[in-house]
Amino acid sequence: MRKILHYTLAMMALSTTLGVQASGKSVYDSLGCSSCHGIDGKPATPAYPALAGKDVTWFVKQLKDFQSSVRKDPTMNAMAPMVVGYEQAIADYLSKQ
Ligand code: HEC
Repeated sequence: MRKILHYTLAMMALSTTLGVQASGKSVYDSLGCSSCHGIDGKPATPAYPALAGKDVTWFVKQLKDFQSSVRKDPTMNAMAPMVVGYEQAIADYLSKQ
């Protein structure tokens, strides 16, 4: 997980340097969000909330609330800080699934 994260962050830094914004899908997939929330935000088990087809504004707020721990969940409080700057891109991508 840590290696994947470092690789992802390196790729994001490179993308930014090249002036290319990583897509919401690539961030979502490479950070392992899909391991719980499923491919394209459609989880295989009801243990995890579906993220497909949600309202963009609501989605971004949930991520920011997890980042600031206004919304508390140990897993998401750890995951959400990894997507700072990509909240909108991930929300846009998943809202269309
Ligand atoms: C290890 C499993 C796991 C991973 C990985 C994970 N999540 Fe979650 N996520 C959860 C759980 C469990 C909840 C429900 C938390 C709660 O009950 O408040 C949740 C909730 C959420 C919610 C709120 C959904 C709702 O219906 O209220 C969003 C948005 C979200 N996750 C996005 C992400 C994103 C984006 C990533 C990747 C950066 C991610 N999650 C990675 C387990 C995970």
